Amino acid sequence: MKLLLTGTAGFIGSSLVAHLLRVDSDLELISLDSLDYAGNRINLDSIQGGIESDRHRFVHGSICDRELVNEIVGEGIDGIINLAAHTHVDRAYYRPESFIRNNVEGVLNLLRAAAQYGVPRFLQVSTDEVYGAVKADAPCDEMAPLRPGNYYSSSKASADLYISAASNYGEVDAVIIRGTNNFGPRQFPEKLIPFFTGRILTGQNLPLYGDGKQMRDWLYVEDFCRAIWLVFTKGARGEIYNAGAGNHMSNYDLTRRLIAILDADPVLIKCVADRPGHDFCYAVDWGKIEKLGWRPKADFENALADTVCWYRDNPEWCETILKESTDSDSDTGFFDRHYRDRN
Ligand SMILES: NC(=O)c1ccc[n+]([C@@H]2O[C@H](COP(=O)([O-])OP(=O)(O)OC[C@H]3O[C@@H](n4cnc5c(N)ncnc54)[C@H](O)[C@@H]3O)[C@@H](O)[C@H]2O)c1
Repeated sequence: MKLLLTGTAGFIGSSLVAHLLRVDSDLELISLDSLDYAGNRINLDSIQGGIESDRHRFVHGSICDRELVNEIVGEGIDGIINLAAHTHVDRAYYRPESFIRNNVEGVLNLLRAAAQYGVPRFLQVSTDEVYGAVKADAPCDEMAPLRPGNYYSSSKASADLYISAASNYGEVDAVIIRGTNNFGPRQFPEKLIPFFTGRILTGQNLPLYGDGKQMRDWLYVEDFCRAIWLVFTKGARGEIYNAGAGNHMSNYDLTRRLIAILDADPVLIKCVADRPGHDFCYAVDWGKIEKLGWRPKADFENALADTVCWYRDNPEWCETILKESTDSDSDTGFFDRHYRDRN
């Protein structure tokens, strides 16, 4: 089976490439990534056979490039798994246009190519953030209304709606998976776990948004990759599946865990002005994917410790990915301006 995977030089995409090459020896993968601020070839270096092998071909380019997408899809492929997106909520606040272009127009482009060339299956990797803020004791199932609270989640919700429409036209056999906050190695260092880990290791303050009471459900990336593959192979046409982990905790509690793992001083925590429109809590009901046969396997505390140790033991990865990060919207330097010297 030959698949097009997009966004593979990023955090989850690179893990998914490694996972699929490992679990199914009949798979041949074409990777498409624009190498935007969070994408870097080094994320694919550790995969089986390297970035280029007889089972994996890397193409540098954008899902917004219709000609390129048509060329790849026109080769004849058996499916598309789309992870390409701009993903950082803080960047979305400053540059919503690039989120519309990459996360919505790019998806529409892929859908049209899938329809034109009769691609048998399309999977969109979406997020629990599309439901907006909810109460922890009232998790959303897949029928819950979409109430995105920021420009990132609005763009992801829009893409989900275009996919439902393409499904409704009968043009594309599409499925959507909505995951909760992922964690694991190779996540861009402006996201909470790698950012705070790096700051603890260098003895810098940990700027926690607001009072730190916002709740998230943390899903280990390897478990999410298994869920993506299960939904791609077994999900019912036109359906949406939530994937959560049951690891709900406040950002403050998560930060205390990072401090404990690295044996640091909690005095590093410093509450700062909250992110505008910060959603208080995300929580999903994932009973539907359980019926397909999926459950998260990772032990949270062990997986978190392994993740933190990975960032501690790979400082050259952090340096390289930040040094080489360039933004397609000329917003290069975002990390330096908003994060590096934050106190
Ligand atoms: N990280 C999470 O917690 C989480 C949770 C649920 C869902 N998701 C979704 O999973 C997907 C991957 O997230 P991630 O955390 O790995 O993000 P990431 O930011 O680490 O990686 C995104 C990748 O997409 C690439 N990209 C961006 N625009 C592109 C374009 N137009 N064409 C081709 N490539 C492009 C980037 O270069 C990067 O390599 C996203 O769609 C995201 O919305 C993420």
